[in-house]
Amino acid sequence: MAVERTLSIIKPDATNRNLTGKINAKFEDAGLRIIAQKRIQLTKDQAGAFYAVHKERPFFDELTSFMASAPVVVQVLEGEGAIAKNREVMGATNPADAAPGTIRAEFAESVGENSVHGSDAPETAAEEISFFFSGLELVG
Ligand code: RTP
Ligand code: MG
Repeated sequence: MAVERTLSIIKPDATNRNLTGKINAKFEDAGLRIIAQKRIQLTKDQAGAFYAVHKERPFFDELTSFMASAPVVVQVLEGEGAIAKNREVMGATNPADAAPGTIRAEFAESVGENSVHGSDAPETAAEEISFFFSGLELVG
């Protein structure tokens, strides 16, 4: 399997509870390398631009307010099959459905406040990485 890069975000519910290190340990234990990382505070407009694909969804306003409510940690994870592997480590969107041991099973508070974001395909991973990082910031 090819080495891939994927965009991950540690969301406000997790940064509020000081869980960055515990979540990063899950990635590293799964063989994912954190090759870029920064803690930033998004505006609601920036969160809306990032989640534009969900613009028409009923939860869009709640989602963008939440993502702008506290700092997030944006990061690039690299590894063999990193996009699918990260989704596996994250667990299902709704923590009630997430497999035991996954980040969302252990840490997420609700379907909305679910601790992490991960890209879902190679095209979205490339777009989402360039939304937050320049090529110079990616040191594999
Ligand atoms: P993400 O994009 O954040 O990695 O999450 P995902 O692929 O597992 O889920 P997605 O369907 O893309 O939804 C994006 C985020 O929107 C929030 N959400 N809230 N209240 C709700 O019913 C609802 N549904 C989705 C979650 O924060 C979800 O991760
Ligand atoms: Mg998604």
